[in-house]
Amino acid sequence: MHTRICSCALALFSGISTLSLMAGCKSLPPSKPESEWTPEEARGAAVFHQACAKCHYPTTTHGLHGPGLQAITKVQSMPSGAPPTDERLTAVILHGHGTMPGTALDDQQLHDLLAYMHTL
Ligand code: HEC
Repeated sequence: MHTRICSCALALFSGISTLSLMAGCKSLPPSKPESEWTPEEARGAAVFHQACAKCHYPTTTHGLHGPGLQAITKVQSMPSGAPPTDERLTAVILHGHGTMPGTALDDQQLHDLLAYMHTL
C-alpha cells in the first residue's frame, strides 16, 4: 500500500529590505546570527542568560541596569573607558565594577561567556 502524503513546505519570504530605513541605529558591526553560533558560543549565551541578562541587553547599546552590550568587544572603549580586552572583561565579570556585582563562574563558563560576548 502506498499512502501519498503531500507535505507542502512552501514558505514565502518577502525580501523587503528595511535595514537601511532603520533610523537611530548606530553603525556598529553586526552581531553573529544565532544560527551560526558554535557550541561554545551557544553555551556562553546560556551563561549570559543566567548571569547577566537581568541587567544587560545583549543586542542593543540601550541600558537596562547596566549598559547594553551590543558589539562590546568591538568598540574601542567600554562605558568605563577601559578597552574591551578579554582580561578586562574577565575582571569585570568575576569581580564586578562600580555598582555591578561580581559573578562566580568556573573556567569553562567564563571561556564560553567570553566567546559569546565576541559574537555580540
Ligand atoms: C545586578 C546587575 C548586573 C549584573 C547581574 C551584571 N552586570 Fe554588568 N554592569 C552592571 C552595571 C550597573 C554596570 C555599570 C557599572 C559601572 O561601570 O559603574 C555594568 C557594567 C558592565 C560592563 C562594562 C564595564 C566597563 O568597563 O565599562 C560589562 C562589559 C558588563 N557589565 C558585563 C557583564 C556580564 C558579562 C555580566 C554577567 C556575567 C554582567 N555584566 C552582570 C550591572 C550588572
